[in-house]
Amino acid sequence: MKKSILTLALSCVALTMSAQDINLPTPNLSQKSMSMIETLNTRHSVRNYDTTKDITNQQLSDVCWAACGMTRDDNHRTSPTAMNRQEIRLFAFLKNGVYEYDAKANKLVKKADGDHRELMAGSGKGGFKQEFVMDAPVTLLMVIDFDIFGNDSEHTKLMGCVDAGNVSENINLYCQAVGLATVPRATHDTNGIRQLLNLTEKQLPIMNNPIGYEKK
Ligand SMILES: Cc1cc2nc3c(=O)[nH]c(=O)nc-3n(C[C@H](O)[C@H](O)[C@H](O)COP(=O)(O)O)c2cc1C
Repeated sequence: MKKSILTLALSCVALTMSAQDINLPTPNLSQKSMSMIETLNTRHSVRNYDTTKDITNQQLSDVCWAACGMTRDDNHRTSPTAMNRQEIRLFAFLKNGVYEYDAKANKLVKKADGDHRELMAGSGKGGFKQEFVMDAPVTLLMVIDFDIFGNDSEHTKLMGCVDAGNVSENINLYCQAVGLATVPRATHDTNGIRQLLNLTEKQLPIMNNPIGYEKK
C-alpha cells in the first residue's frame, strides 16, 4: 500500500515537471532542405505570418538546434562565439509561456507562464511597435549574458553583438532552407523582458526572430 502511494506521488512529481518544461525531440539532422547556395540566394525577411499555422515541437527542436545547438564534443555549437564562450542565451516566446533553450539537455525550460509575445513587438516608445510579430507562433530571443562571457568591456560588448548576429543568421538561413518564415529584429521591449525573466544589467536582450509560416 505504502509502495503504491509512493509510486503515485513520484508520478505526480514527474507529471508536474513535464508540464513545466518541454523535452524536445532529437533534432532531425537528415531532413530535406535547400542547398546552401539556393538558401543564400533566396533568403529574405518576412513580416506577415499565418496565424492558423503552428509549428511542431520537432520544428522547434530543429530551429533551436540550428540557432545554437550542441555539435562536436558536446562543447561546440552550430553558431560560433568569441573564444567559444557560448554566452548567447536563447529564449522561446510561445503562446503558452516563455522558455529557455537548454542545448545540452535538448529541452525548453519554462521561465514564465502565459503569452508574452507582445514584448517582442516593442515597447511602443517613440510610437514604434511591430504588431505583426504576435501573429508568429514563436519568437526566439537572443540574450547576451556578460556574466557567462566573464566581463562586459567595450570589446566584449561588440563580440556579444557579433555572436548574437551569428545565431540570428543561423535561424534566417535554416528557416529559408526548410520553408519557414522569419525576420531578424532588434526591436523588442528590453525593460519588459528583463522584468519578466529576472534579467540583470549584465544580460542584454539584443535580437529576436519571429518564426512561422508566411501568410499567402
Ligand atoms: C541588426 C538587424 C536589426 C534589424 N531589426 C529589424 C527590426 O527591428 N524590425 C524589422 O522589421 N526588421 C529588422 N531587420 C531586418 C532588416 O530590415 C532586413 O534584413 C533588411 O531590410 C534586408 O531585407 P532582407 O532581410 O529581406 O534581405 C533587422 C536586420 C538586422 C540585420
